[in-house]
Amino acid sequence: MPRLPNSLLRKARNINSLLPALLGPCRDLTSAQNELRWLREHVHKEAKRRSKKGDTLAKADLLKTLVECRAKGFPLQYLLGSEFFGDLEIECRPGVLIPRPETAASVTHLAKLIGSAQNLPTELRVLDLCTGTGCIPLLFQNEFRSLRDNIALRLLGVDISRKAIALAIRNRRRLHQSNKDVYKTATAFMLADVLSNPFADSAIDSPLPLKSALNHRRLPAFWDILISNPPYISPDAFRTTTARSVRGFEPRLALVPPQEAGSSHVEKGDTFYPAIFQAAKDTEVKVVLLEVADLDQALRVARMAQMRNFDGVEIWCDQPDQVNDSIPEASHGIPIVGQGNGRSVVCWQGIGAEWLEKKAASIESRPMKEVLEQTLAPRFELERCADDTVRLPRFLFRARTQLVDEWGLPVKWSTQGDKKKS
Ligand SMILES: C[S@@+](CC[C@H](N)C(=O)[O-])C[C@H]1O[C@@H](n2cnc3c(N)ncnc32)[C@H](O)[C@@H]1O
Repeated sequence: MPRLPNSLLRKARNINSLLPALLGPCRDLTSAQNELRWLREHVHKEAKRRSKKGDTLAKADLLKTLVECRAKGFPLQYLLGSEFFGDLEIECRPGVLIPRPETAASVTHLAKLIGSAQNLPTELRVLDLCTGTGCIPLLFQNEFRSLRDNIALRLLGVDISRKAIALAIRNRRRLHQSNKDVYKTATAFMLADVLSNPFADSAIDSPLPLKSALNHRRLPAFWDILISNPPYISPDAFRTTTARSVRGFEPRLALVPPQEAGSSHVEKGDTFYPAIFQAAKDTEVKVVLLEVADLDQALRVARMAQMRNFDGVEIWCDQPDQVNDSIPEASHGIPIVGQGNGRSVVCWQGIGAEWLEKKAASIESRPMKEVLEQTLAPRFELERCADDTVRLPRFLFRARTQLVDEWGLPVKWSTQGDKKKS
């Protein structure tokens, strides 16, 4: 990080003696001035709150302490105690991930699409895995309700962290108090482990696996929409590319999947997605929205969705509601929607296609080449040759009937030699 010029530090000190310390994390004067103003407002509010209880507060001392913490990289949202997520002010506490605006953008976009859809069930069920502050179900509810008030909504946020669940419940209580428009809405938060296997041996006090927890709490087994922003940073990327303020102050549990011996650097970052797809299958959801780190991870996750027989999949960028004119519209045949970095993967099946205004595409309607490259090639490790042919291993010849039935491929498998034009 480049050093700050002395002239800038002098200018800041002449405005306010606390400003130079804030220039470190903020890097420019306007942002530092904004942060100082927010911290001062926070101190005033805190003093008022304490005086109601008969306490007095040394405001200047508290402001100085907060500025010192901020100068060391402590996130502003933890100091102020909240962050805006869409239009909602979400309480933030150390130990629980601070919600990000890109997550809010995709959740808002999805809620708007679903809120405008025909043929919704009378009760729409939304499952949020790895819920943290509970920001996703709370925002989904807020956006959906602004469009539809005739559909009952059931939302469930799941997390492995007791701290996160307690904070999510506080957020729900506060937001439901300030918003009386909670007609036929049930929002619950539940402790469970998305990764653990219901049949594995586990410690008596560890969170139950998702399926067992749903069962134990007598919650529905079937849901309509699954959203998740899981930990997705590989341990290597955490060490080398994650910002110091995130690495040093936000919970590693929320950012990096648990380490499994033997898996590659890339696979470690992708740990949660297969488990979430399994949960999507078990709960028979029709639409899945998964946040990812970047376009590379988006493509890997999109391929996982294709291999699991979803009817359709696309990648959403940071701003999925913006028209896309700078990046390619499709990558490896997977449509990319919106502007910014690849941020989430959306896939659907059955009626979900209608809710998202997609054609219910069947695998048969996909071009042969696309099916071969995206579905069969990774699954069976088919080899693509320089002359644009695909080399078929012998065992595929034996399995051709099953492949034709399973995939509906209009293929006449050659029995002469081992090459087939794609
Ligand atoms: C990236 S944060 C997302 C938080 C929130 N949804 C958001 O968007 O701000 C991931 C969350 O996953 C939770 N988590 C980590 N491992 C988990 C597991 N095995 N099962 C369930 N939740 C887990 C963490 O506690 C953390 O709250």
